[in-house]
Amino acid sequence: VSLLLTNIGELVTNGGDAAGPGGFASVTGAALVIQGDRVAWTGPASQAPDADHRIDCGGRAVLPGFVDSHAHLVFAGERSAEFAARMAGTPYQAGGIATTVAATRAASDERLRANLRALWAEMLAQGTTTFECKSGYGLTVADEQRSVALAAELTPEVTFLGAHVVPPEYTADRDGYLDLVCGPMLAACAARARWVDVFCERGAFTPDEARAVLSAGQAAGLIPRIHAGQLGPGPGIRLAVELGAASADHCTYLSGADVDALAAGNTVATLLPGVEFSTRNPYPDARRLLDAGATVALATDCNPGSCFTSSMPLAVALAVREMRMTTQEAIWAATAGGARALRRDDVGHLRPGARADLILLDAPSHVYLAYRPGVPLVSAVWQDGELAAGAPLA
Ligand code: NIG
Ligand code: FE
Repeated sequence: VSLLLTNIGELVTNGGDAAGPGGFASVTGAALVIQGDRVAWTGPASQAPDADHRIDCGGRAVLPGFVDSHAHLVFAGERSAEFAARMAGTPYQAGGIATTVAATRAASDERLRANLRALWAEMLAQGTTTFECKSGYGLTVADEQRSVALAAELTPEVTFLGAHVVPPEYTADRDGYLDLVCGPMLAACAARARWVDVFCERGAFTPDEARAVLSAGQAAGLIPRIHAGQLGPGPGIRLAVELGAASADHCTYLSGADVDALAAGNTVATLLPGVEFSTRNPYPDARRLLDAGATVALATDCNPGSCFTSSMPLAVALAVREMRMTTQEAIWAATAGGARALRRDDVGHLRPGARADLILLDAPSHVYLAYRPGVPLVSAVWQDGELAAGAPLA
């Protein structure tokens, strides 16, 4: 079956072939045809072909679904008290991760699955059609294995993050924990994961430890990505580029050498402005990365500690308001940029052949996502050509 969306005020296709935010492209007075699970045609509404069904978009905007390339959704419990304390002046410390690890280990599979599905439904309703999901709150072989298995029920973009922090029972034996992560834990998780990640930061893993974990993951067939530069400067970002990681995430603290490496290499810089919002840390300098020619993605980092929002529209609004990204750059980064960070070419754009993952806004252009922050503007979401959330307004 085919579906024609017509009278689209602004259709964001990301149709340009430039390797960066220059790839943002949109058409006004447009139409789009979905055939099965793919985009079959885009162009001026006046030239649209016939289709089995037809929706008049009433001049509203249609965009590619958001690609959230960084989320931690397999967990139990919550840490609102930690957030409240932070807002009262306590700085963010990665130590809170242990609280979630304890709650996650104690939770049943059903509890974890229900939490994960609820968060995914929340994301979808806000326009996210592709998401990455990390393990990392289990930190035993069995708990990491079930975390990746649960994530794999909902997304192909599963990341093994056994190296999130050293769990309490290994505080006196870091090397023992690293052997576990690079040995039996990786072996138990690799089959259901696509990516390997490590939290390379003071208080988590050193650059040498990070290199060992990512290399072991690569040897097991996984592609590296990294958490680095969140709480302070360090060599993690350059390590990511050196290892050919798909993405270096956070990048809040950036040296000139980091910017140069990201601009020259094949690693996307994934910025997570919800974290800075929720920790009151300084925002990363997106302008510096973009001006240097680095590829920038935006993601939520949805997790119970540093940033408990699943909202890509919020990430876009913060990126525009606080990180000096243009509205076009921010939308590109939240769609095509995320796709780059996940090395996907079927999502993040709406060229013919793309997966039919798209959103209809209750607004005439993409600008409104930043112009009207906090307003739920995503009125309908199609995933694989099927209406997955909301409803197209008549
Ligand atoms: O991406 N940085 C490491 N991990 C998460 C935070 C996890 C937590 O605080 O529970 C992050 O910010
Ligand atoms: Fe994270």
